[in-house]
Amino acid sequence: MPRGLKGFVLKDILQQLEERRAQARLGGGKKRIAVQHAKGKLTARERISLLLDEDSFEEFDMFVAHRCTDFGMEDKGFPGDGVVTGWGTINGRKTFVFAQDFTVFGGSLSETNAKKICKVQEMAIKHGAPVIGLNDSGGARIQEGVVSLGGYADVFQNNILASGVIPQISVIMGPCAGGAVYSPALTDFIFMVRDTSYMFVTGPDVVKTVTNEIVTAEELGGAKTHTTKSSVADGAFDNDMEALAEIRRLFDFLPLNNREKPPVRNVFDKSDRLEKSLDTLVPDNPNLPYDMHEVITKVADEGDFYEIQKDFAKNILTGFIRMDGSTVGVVANQPMVLAGCLDSDSSRKAARFVRFCDAFSIPILTLVDVPGFLPGTAQEHGGIIKHGAKLLYAYGEATVPKVTVITRKAYGGAYDVMAPKHLRGDLNYAWPSAQIAVMGAKGAVEILYRKDLKDAKKIAKHVEDYEKNFANPFKAAEKGYIDDVIMPHSTRKRVCRAFAMLKDKDLKNPWKKHGNLPL
Ligand code: HXC
Repeated sequence: MPRGLKGFVLKDILQQLEERRAQARLGGGKKRIAVQHAKGKLTARERISLLLDEDSFEEFDMFVAHRCTDFGMEDKGFPGDGVVTGWGTINGRKTFVFAQDFTVFGGSLSETNAKKICKVQEMAIKHGAPVIGLNDSGGARIQEGVVSLGGYADVFQNNILASGVIPQISVIMGPCAGGAVYSPALTDFIFMVRDTSYMFVTGPDVVKTVTNEIVTAEELGGAKTHTTKSSVADGAFDNDMEALAEIRRLFDFLPLNNREKPPVRNVFDKSDRLEKSLDTLVPDNPNLPYDMHEVITKVADEGDFYEIQKDFAKNILTGFIRMDGSTVGVVANQPMVLAGCLDSDSSRKAARFVRFCDAFSIPILTLVDVPGFLPGTAQEHGGIIKHGAKLLYAYGEATVPKVTVITRKAYGGAYDVMAPKHLRGDLNYAWPSAQIAVMGAKGAVEILYRKDLKDAKKIAKHVEDYEKNFANPFKAAEKGYIDDVIMPHSTRKRVCRAFAMLKDKDLKNPWKKHGNLPL
């Protein structure tokens, strides 16, 4: 019988390893796992096994233990110390992952727990693969005090260094409170699970004490609040299983790091497919809306659109599609909401999305139907100037291939913002229904012909003249501001060809430490 170093029988040591592993896999124990399940939540390991390909998870630091000796902690401990970390694959592509284990000290972050998270973050940066964080934690490990706060700051620093280098995705699957919210907030995407997750800097009790407001955790920081009001979260799902399946779907659109191109998928949808129904999508009456989702899904491969922030600032649509198998980021005005006007929220939403795409070499398709910026004191006092500038800055800074299609209105400053040629747009197309002008006919005539305002006949003539001049794409085409007027039914074919032509685009901005985005 072979003997190990200290005279143990090797078989016993193997047995011991299995036992230790089995114990670690139990986290905080069966009772706490049952409580977790009773709340409708999966455990950290169950979540990882659904997120990653079967049998692909390689765990690190399974036996790590905390070092706290205060508050009787020397007698308490669970192998792994409340977070499960490692790497695995999603549809064969590498990703690093950490999942906070609520069954161990409420998933709270200790010194060693933070070190485990930092280790996977640093490996991910070094080896060029995304980090997916599954958050379910009571925050700083109270017994460890400042050591835990230091651990958080170490994680934050790594989030910041990883930003723009590897995609970082956060899924909030339980509590996420206090300063703990800032790690997800520094990542590229935050998704939440409805009814079982919340995020806030200070909870309902503190809120009541300080501001006298009575609010539930759900109202203060649940999925609905963060996807519709605060825009902190990019999406919400009904349960853990749906959330993890959707993260796998998102992952497939993304490159692994900022030096790689996004993955190319085999698709059956022909890139020259014509879509006749688009020819009649835009109504004759320019004041009537139509659903821009229809354009997106009809030009996308297999109609697949992964929408980001779909419940916030619905006057602009953002998300990922594939065209001829390659990932494309779409930004599109939505005439169904606020007539597609740009306002502070939609500008911020789109700017952040454009910057993500640019950081990770994802080409951008912009679909334009925008009557201008939303007027009003609420907008002006809310800083529309700075927020609008964010989108302008994001487009102007972006060096990825940019293709723009103006489907109808491109008025005023909003024309300048929505990826025109002047912001280094590569190919700009317009549908025959496009109207490219400083403003709509009525507004223009009221300013230019104020003296005729009481004469309805004259005004009607002025409007007609104005529309003849500007309610079409040809003035802009004459100037070369658009590259071609295209038939709506050929949009998919033309845009696919445009991106194919731009595949090897190589554009660099002047050297700088970093720009000063109007935050
Ligand atoms: C240590 C914690 C803990 C924490 C929970 N636990 N939070 N242990 N540090 N922060 C432990 C509990 O003692 C309990 O242990 C187990 O986790 C489950 O907690 P319960 O309270 O029984 O669960 P539940 O009723 O579901 O309530 C969950 C909770 C609550 C709402 C998260 O536990 C809670 O309010 N925790 C404190 C949250 C908090 O204030 N954290 C500090 C935030 S400030 P047993 O052994 O009984 O199972 C912060 C600063 C970060 O995080 C700063 C970064 C810059």
